Amino acid sequence: FAPKLLVGQRVLITAGPTFEAIDPVRGITNLSSGKMGFAIARAARAAGAEVTLVAGPVHLPTPRGVRRIDVRSAQNMLQAVDTQAPEATIFIATAAVADWRPAHAAEHKIKKDGSGDTPTLAFVENPDILAQVAQSARARAGQLYCVGFAAESENLLAHASAKRVRKGVPLLVGNIGPATFGQDDNALLLVDAQGHRELPRAPKSELGRQLVAEIARRLGEAGAP
Ligand code: C5P
Repeated sequence: FAPKLLVGQRVLITAGPTFEAIDPVRGITNLSSGKMGFAIARAARAAGAEVTLVAGPVHLPTPRGVRRIDVRSAQNMLQAVDTQAPEATIFIATAAVADWRPAHAAEHKIKKDGSGDTPTLAFVENPDILAQVAQSARARAGQLYCVGFAAESENLLAHASAKRVRKGVPLLVGNIGPATFGQDDNALLLVDAQGHRELPRAPKSELGRQLVAEIARRLGEAGAP
């Protein structure tokens, strides 16, 4: 039994890592599995929402009834989010977006030249997808409820509270360590303007359902868009 808490809502979710090309066969990525974002997508769909999932390179099946857009780089992810966000009423950013990308992706595979010299990579900063969406007119008008995630190795509450304010989102969800990359369970710290509460360690599927209920409750209180 899944209560239909999100009927009439259109939920946009980012999930997984991004992949930033160095050359046609190499790149930089991270260990995000996408499991938390996919679990939230499944739970939101079960709660009656229309769900669009923008996924970086992950090895996960598409949850039933969810529309999936596969992307590779942070810039691809931003482009997909920009086209979908105007339709959404809830945006949940779970993706582990690369903070930096190589400044120039080589057109051809970088070859060893036998001299022993090693290549040097220069980086540029990637766009902050969540911060951009949270600053959009619809988000600021309360028509798009934005939720961010944070993975921190220390001082989770302090970092998550600061990040919530910096990104301009009403709800920031911290992954309670140790890092749960690829694992099937997690524990979450929810931080909003009222304070914080913990969702104790549980399977990501269960945490997805609990988070959906928490978001639905906050939307109800705010007067749903
Ligand atoms: O700043 P930090 O990367 O820790 O913020 C994490 C939150 O911001 C997550 O919700 C993540 O999906 C989002 N984010 C983003 N675009 C970035 C970096 C982070 O959407 N370039």
